[in-house]
Amino acid sequence: MLNNHTRREFVSATAAASAAALLPNWKAWSAPQAKKIRLAVLGGGFGATFHFHEHPNCVVTAATDLYEGRRQRLRDYYKLDAVYNSFDEMLKARNTFDAVAVFSGAQDHAKHVLQCFHHGLHVLSAVPACMTLEEAQQLKEAKEKTGLRYMMAESSYYRTGCIYARDLYKKGGFGEIHYSELEYYHDFPATRFQNNPRSLWYNPDGSESWRKGLPPMLYPTHSLGFLVGVTKERIVKLNCLGWGPDHPNYRYQENRYQNPFANQFALMETNQGHMTRCNVFWEVAADGEQARWFGEKGTLYMALPRIHSDIWHERFGQPKPIEFPKYWMSEALPPSMRHESGHGGSAIFISAEFINALVEDREPEIDIYESLAMTVPGIVAHQSSLKGGETMKVPSFDRKQA
Ligand SMILES: NC(=O)c1ccc[n+]([C@@H]2O[C@H](COP(=O)([O-])OP(=O)(O)OC[C@H]3O[C@@H](n4cnc5c(N)ncnc54)[C@H](O)[C@@H]3O)[C@@H](O)[C@H]2O)c1
Repeated sequence: MLNNHTRREFVSATAAASAAALLPNWKAWSAPQAKKIRLAVLGGGFGATFHFHEHPNCVVTAATDLYEGRRQRLRDYYKLDAVYNSFDEMLKARNTFDAVAVFSGAQDHAKHVLQCFHHGLHVLSAVPACMTLEEAQQLKEAKEKTGLRYMMAESSYYRTGCIYARDLYKKGGFGEIHYSELEYYHDFPATRFQNNPRSLWYNPDGSESWRKGLPPMLYPTHSLGFLVGVTKERIVKLNCLGWGPDHPNYRYQENRYQNPFANQFALMETNQGHMTRCNVFWEVAADGEQARWFGEKGTLYMALPRIHSDIWHERFGQPKPIEFPKYWMSEALPPSMRHESGHGGSAIFISAEFINALVEDREPEIDIYESLAMTVPGIVAHQSSLKGGETMKVPSFDRKQA
């Protein structure tokens, strides 16, 4: 019988061993190569929470933000002096970096990524990849023309439950996944956020931020990452409904998007004929990103914060709580990066994968095609909801088959 101490050591050793084995597509870390990626960071909000500088093959050489407080945050966090007042200004020092991590507001990602490609820079983009079908086409064309590397920093893809589901699916543990439920809930109560300069609806200078009135389905990747990031399926058809509370932001569409909806709910069909229910809600007593995958052999439920733990329900068996491996302990990560990190542990993997891909001269796991497959269905879903739930086809932005 194991005592508590020995059991803890045993569980942690098993978790570490299986974590190394389980990390899909990741090689064991070997001694750092001489190659150093010189990275610039655009955006000192979420952009000042990553771990690029802990990677032995990366040095953060430049950063930029429009606001002084955020420039200071970037200076302190990444420990650098070369901090610029705007992206355009930073681009004048183009020869001091090879790649850019773009963490501007959602509506600017496509524009900033295209600027990066134009200057011959590899790019890591915050989610979503873009907000229109035209931008999706431009991104795909620019990526294919330049051959530069592109990755989208989708956190759901590297949440522990998603890494586990991806691996289980690969190993046949689900059999066919015929239905999934994908959710991103983030309560932005209009009654508390309106005219509250400290809320996320306002920028540090008091102007309205891109989050005020943002159509939820234009921010679909935290939900869709759980499907595209597990089975690699593509959404081909959908319909979507929306709801908004009785508040001028929604009722009179007093927002830059003329958007009436705070919550959107879509039913989607995949290219393998499977069903998905995809929710993105801004007015809700619930939080977080979570999914449920229903397979022939069993169902995996990601934990609902403060409601239930992660659960595996073997078909014809009993539902049982399950403990996911501590993937961050994996020897696939450089030793300096083997620690817990933000957004469900995803920040460390996003940081490492982008740098690894550049060092190894390969496409990152969340390449342009996966990124657009997680983004574009939301653009179409929003259109469907504006038409009262009309069924719409989703165009493909995948690589042309030879
Ligand atoms: N879990 C996740 O994946 C997650 C979490 C939070 C944010 N995000 C994404 O990350 C991005 C950034 O989020 P945020 O909360 O920091 O947004 P934010 O609007 O608070 O910050 C964006 C920053 O970009 C800067 N910026 C914009 N244009 C610039 C330019 N031309 N030159 C220099 N700086 C410029 C702004 O000054 C601002 O500080 C958003 O797109 C958001 O969707 C993702």
